[in-house]
Amino acid sequence: MEPYRIKVVEPIPVTTRQQREAALKRVNYNLFDLRAEEVTIDLLTDSGTGALSAAQLAAGMAGDESYSGSRSFYRFHETVTELTGYAHILPAHQGRAAERVLFTTLLERGNLVLSNTHFDTTRANVELNDAEARDLPCPEAKNLDSTDPFKGNIDLDALARTLSGPDGSRVAVVVMTITNNGGGGQPVSMENLKRTAALCRQHGVPLFLDAARFAENAWLVTRHEEGYRDRTPRQVAEEAFRLTDGCMMSAKKDGIVHIGGFIGTNDPELAQKCELLLIATEGFATYGGLAGRDLDMMAQGLTEVTEPSYLAERAEIASHLAHRVRAAGVDIVEPPGMHALYLNAGRLLPHIPPHHYPGHALACQLYLEGGIRSAELGSLYLGEEDEHGNPIKSAPYELVRLALPRRVYTRSHYDHVGETLAKIAKNTDQVYGFRITDQSPILRHFRATLEPV
Ligand code: F0G
Repeated sequence: MEPYRIKVVEPIPVTTRQQREAALKRVNYNLFDLRAEEVTIDLLTDSGTGALSAAQLAAGMAGDESYSGSRSFYRFHETVTELTGYAHILPAHQGRAAERVLFTTLLERGNLVLSNTHFDTTRANVELNDAEARDLPCPEAKNLDSTDPFKGNIDLDALARTLSGPDGSRVAVVVMTITNNGGGGQPVSMENLKRTAALCRQHGVPLFLDAARFAENAWLVTRHEEGYRDRTPRQVAEEAFRLTDGCMMSAKKDGIVHIGGFIGTNDPELAQKCELLLIATEGFATYGGLAGRDLDMMAQGLTEVTEPSYLAERAEIASHLAHRVRAAGVDIVEPPGMHALYLNAGRLLPHIPPHHYPGHALACQLYLEGGIRSAELGSLYLGEEDEHGNPIKSAPYELVRLALPRRVYTRSHYDHVGETLAKIAKNTDQVYGFRITDQSPILRHFRATLEPV
């Protein structure tokens, strides 16, 4: 059961099918353009959408808004230092700000960054510095149905080959994303992280964590990895940070805050350079674009997030939803993970070809039938067509992500999601595809307009 009770509530909008139909038409079938007031269950993201605890709110009220050297900064700094062990900690307003400051400082034109899988903004920030972002996911990740517990791992053979091959001298940093959001939210084992750290050390390349969901990764390690079953998630997290040279963190996930992030590093020279860029572009080094109250709430959230009872319930609710989704006859990327379920829309809707976006079709149907907002991760996101709409490139899988905000929705909300999917799965022949009517040259899924085919 939930290890908390509810003290403050917020009504959620309930709409009619007619209203949802009109809303979808009005936004040209782009779910990002819906007003949140038109959404009943919002599973677009688990980022910045969590519920604060009473202790976080209290910490926020006690926030110190001094421009420099605030009490809030010192509390934040102490908490993050104890958790991570890094010698230098710099606050930033969110994950991508930390990425920009770090990569602008660390990367030179022509460098190569290797990762189990780069998140989109991480990739974008590497590419903005004229460097290459290369993903090396482990081979098990390709089998969506496999229940291997650590499908978020990096491919160690490919990593070793690249580091000692002709591209080796271009590698500026290796980034391990925990959990692997771009790879179905799958965790990375400590064994994989240790071996990666050893390879990086051998080649003199720094290893950084993209630690957005470090506590969820730690929980899954305590469940599934030999040698870690009697450890607490906090102990696993502490060890993971200490195996690496630094991290970028979006605290909007496992900091359970609405805004916040940080950079951690053991390299004094890198820290000093990052600090200067931070001051020029984010804010002074003791607030990094945040209010004092945000730093306090982040410190408190980072402490709460590794509580075993919280993590156990979060895993439990994800598997509750996974069970409902499978019972509805819809396949997911297995195993379900913790921050999101990824629906296999390609398999559910084989009559819709990739260039008519089966993932988007399912996402629109979830909204139409149940007022549920989700995110397409398929050919609308990754594909390409010529000017006549003929496919040039399609995504490897047509997925829809149902992200689970922290401490926000209860089992009955997720039961509604399961029931809605069951309705859709019974009448898949009524689900139609889409064509793009207008799109931007990059990141098209955010701004594209569409029409039913
Ligand atoms: N790294 C990972 C693994 C992420 O999932 C995200 C954000 C970021 C970095 C960037 O952090 O949003 O604070 O700037 N992921 C969100 C999502 C947006 O919906 O998965 P940010």
